[in-house]
Formats: sequence, C-alpha cells, structure tokens
Amino acid sequence: MKPLDPVLLQVLAGRRPTCRPVWLMRQAGRFLPEYRELRERKSFAELLRDPELASDVTLMPLRRFDLDAAILFTDLLVLLEAMGIPLAYTPGPELGWTVESAADLERLRPIDTERDLAVPLATAARVRAELASDKALIGFVGAPFTLGCYLVEGKGSKTWNKLRALAWGDPELYLAVMDLLAGAALDFGLAQHRAGCDAIQVFDSWAGVAEPGMFRRLVLPALEKLVLGLKRAGCPVIYFLNGAAPQLETMVETGADCLGIDWRLDIARAHASLPEGLPLQGNLDPTVLLGAPAMIESEARRILRAAGDRPHVFNLGHGLDPGTPLEAVQKLIDTIRAWDGGSPA
Ligand code: CP3
Repeated sequence: MKPLDPVLLQVLAGRRPTCRPVWLMRQAGRFLPEYRELRERKSFAELLRDPELASDVTLMPLRRFDLDAAILFTDLLVLLEAMGIPLAYTPGPELGWTVESAADLERLRPIDTERDLAVPLATAARVRAELASDKALIGFVGAPFTLGCYLVEGKGSKTWNKLRALAWGDPELYLAVMDLLAGAALDFGLAQHRAGCDAIQVFDSWAGVAEPGMFRRLVLPALEKLVLGLKRAGCPVIYFLNGAAPQLETMVETGADCLGIDWRLDIARAHASLPEGLPLQGNLDPTVLLGAPAMIESEARRILRAAGDRPHVFNLGHGLDPGTPLEAVQKLIDTIRAWDGGSPA
C-alpha cells in the first residue's frame, strides 16, 4: 500500500497514518442546509432514484468539511425493494408486505444486482470519478439481521420482537431468511466494490437486541458469509454494531477488518479485550454535538486519548442527529486535526 492511499484504507489495513481518518455516520443528510433545501424540491424516494442527485448529496459533506471519506447516498432498504417489496418513507420506512412464512419467502424476487440496483451502482461510479484520490468512498449494506428486522416487521421497532420470535419459534425459516439476505447483501456489496467503492460498511443497527447466545448461533453465521465473501474479493470491511458491548469478542469472528462501536462502551476497554492491532471505529455520542464547543472538544479528546496509538477511525457511535449545528461538526474536526498535529493539551 502506498503512503498516498486514503488514510481510511491505511487504517483498515492495520496501519496508523499520522493523520487519523474521520467520517461521520449519516454525514449526507438533514443536518446539511443544502440537503434540506434539495429535499424541499425532491422527496427522499426521488433522490434514491437519481444517480446525479444521489452523487451530489454524497459529496455535499466533503465540500464543507475536511472529511476523509464519502459514504454512498442510498438506503439500507433499497435491497428489499429490489426483491419486489414496495417501500415508502413516511418519513420512517414502511414495507408493502412482510415475510411471515416460507410461502412469503418464495414471493421474493431473485435480484439481478446490476439491473435492479443500477442507481446506487451508477452513483458509486460517479462519486469515485469526482472524488479526490486521497479520499475513500465507503459503500454499505445492511447486515442480514438488521435487514431481517425490517423484512419481518415491515417498519421500525424498538425491540424487533417479530424477528426474535421467528428465530426461536421457526429456526428453519429464520435461517432461510438470513441466508437469503446474506447472499443478496454480498452480491450488492461486491457490485458496489466493482463500481468504485473502496470499502464496505456493514450496518448492524439493530442486532444489539439479540441475546448473546442468539447472537453467536443465529446472527454471526450469516455475517461471516457476508464479510468473508467481501474480503475474498479484496474489499475491506467495517462491521458496525449498535449495541456492541456484550458482543465484542464475537464481533471479531466476523472477520471484519475494522469494528465500528456505538458510544455506550469505552473504546480503551474495547481495545483491551480485542486482538492487538485490530482497528476500531467510533465512538462519540452523537448528542455531544448538540452541546457546547468546550464539551465537544473535551469529549473528542477523551476518545482520542482512549484510542491511544492503536489504529482508529474517528466516527460517532451512531448517526448524526439531524439538528446538529454545522459549527459543532467543524469544532469536532478541528479538535481531531489539532490532536494529530501533535498539540494535544
Ligand atoms: O450519510 C450517510 O450515512 C449515508 C446515507 C444513509 C442513509 N441511510 C440515508 C437516509 C445510510 C448509511 C443509511 C443507512 C440506513 N438506513 C440504516 C443504517 C444506519 C443506521 O442509522 O443505523 C437504517 C436503519 C436505515 C433505514 C432508514 N432510512 C430509516 C430508519 C430512516 C428514517 C429515519 C431517519 O433518519 O429519517 C431512513 C431514511 C433516511 N435514510 C434518510 C437519509 C438521509 C432521511 C430521509 C429524509 O428525510 O431526507
């Protein structure tokens, strides 16, 4: 790997560049005035159908801030839509029907990735062509469990009881669902990589609801299939789990190059319980950015200190709050850059 490769990719390869990579989950979205202005004219669904608009939104945060990576503007759920389930945002996602039986599973259409997901793939190609060579483009897919949450529930939930009940009540159908979703997410991730994404983040936003034994036996195998398939194609993988604390050791078994953790655990303790040199991503509480500048600075420094000299991608512990002030993000990035510049106070 050349020193000029994007710093994010250097960290994913286990190196520790002098300038630490930073990007923010949900950086392409409603906290940006230019995104809100665009949304007055276009619905979210329209943005998802237009590679020109989607690539513009992908690049919006990098025009304003010194971020090291762009993340593809699309949504986790376009994959389920490609399987033939109608999808609406009201504003949370709502699926036209859900999978409750083997017969429902049969109704899902096999995906022709290049045809059915042409928009995000064209978006990736456009962004990679425009993006500076020292910046990374991150593609993403939903983890099988998180996709499964929506597939059986049809809309958001706090506890995702339906998928958990399916796992205990009809393990055979549950495993068939996981296997199908892992295969589809793998094909989509591989296609994103071929289209120009430098790395793939697997979002497991909701697997934190799984009991540890369930996580190991019923969440991990499908994840391994997805992560190893991507890695075999030479694509670096970040595995983000919201609610990572109880599953840290199991997360290592996914084989991901970097583990993304939420804000509820101490990053130094996470490092201590993981193999040496395994890169971590995270983990500022997103609501810190709703606080005073001095608080942003001290909390960011607390994380920088805790990450120490281990390979680290600075990020939030989950997505940016749409109400985050622009100045707060600027303050955060200034703090990170000053620290790596060698002047930590
Ligand atoms: O900036 C980025 O991170 C890239 C874009 C991105 C979106 N969705 C755009 C979006 C990413 C990475 C996602 C992933 C996603 N989508 C996840 C996993 C990440 C996470 O937060 O845990 C999930 C669970 C979804 C499903 C989803 N999409 C929900 C629950 C919602 C409604 C809640 C919300 O934040 O409004 C969406 C809509 C959505 N996806 C928006 C954006 C910018 C808001 C649409 C709008 O109103 O403009």
